[in-house]
Amino acid sequence: MKESDIYPTIDINTYQKEATLKDGTKILLRPMVAEDQDALYEFFQAIPREDARYLRDDISSRHLVEKWAKKLDYAKTLPILAIKDDAIIGDATINRRRFGWKHHLGTVRVFVHKEYRDVGLGHLMIDELVDIAYKLGIEKLIVEIPELSTAAIHAFNRAGFYRVAEIPNMVKDRENMPVGIVVMMKDVRPAHDDAYDYDF
Ligand SMILES: CC(C)(COP(=O)(O)OP(=O)(O)OC[C@H]1O[C@@H](n2cnc3c(N)ncnc32)[C@H](O)[C@@H]1OP(=O)(O)O)[C@@H](O)C(=O)NCCC(=O)NCCS
Repeated sequence: MKESDIYPTIDINTYQKEATLKDGTKILLRPMVAEDQDALYEFFQAIPREDARYLRDDISSRHLVEKWAKKLDYAKTLPILAIKDDAIIGDATINRRRFGWKHHLGTVRVFVHKEYRDVGLGHLMIDELVDIAYKLGIEKLIVEIPELSTAAIHAFNRAGFYRVAEIPNMVKDRENMPVGIVVMMKDVRPAHDDAYDYDF
């Protein structure tokens, strides 16, 4: 019996989901497409300085956003956007490696527009990433969170992620100050068993 006969699967190219936030805001979740380039740039422009300090990438660079839009490869980076009235209000990604010792893992990131926080969008997007990861065959999800981001730690905790490590002074913020990282993980589905690939 094949794994796909046991677990539900997903066609990410046709995936989309409507949802209503706690305050009644209606949103659409769907994967990013190349045409989202300008809206994504706008979304990043609205990120407050204090949040941007901890970001991995220089999202103020239009060139970087253009590159992401041009080189979309969902098997490597899957960006799920939350859209309200054609504007992006949330961005959540799963990063994967196709080969090697980490091929069964997904690394996630979630970012919610400042004006739409605390109404459950973060939680919704994390839950959705978990569901998509499950259907994609990812076994574990990992997130690295700056230790001071209590809201993020809380949101991932509520979605069933547990703390596996705390690494003091691991990264540096934009002012070159060391920042500790909390690593959280969630077991999404059991390890792949090759035996399922054969029909007995
Ligand atoms: C983390 C983040 C995605 C959460 O988004 P959100 O839409 O506000 O999330 P939710 O509304 O679903 O949940 C936030 C929870 O944190 C709680 N919270 C908010 N501020 C908090 C704080 N300072 N300390 C503790 N909890 C806090 C809220 O009350 C809410 O709890 P509840 O679910 O029990 O009601 C958002 O704050 C964000 O984009 N932060 C910057 C990027 C980031 O740090 N990403 C995570 C690492 S990849």
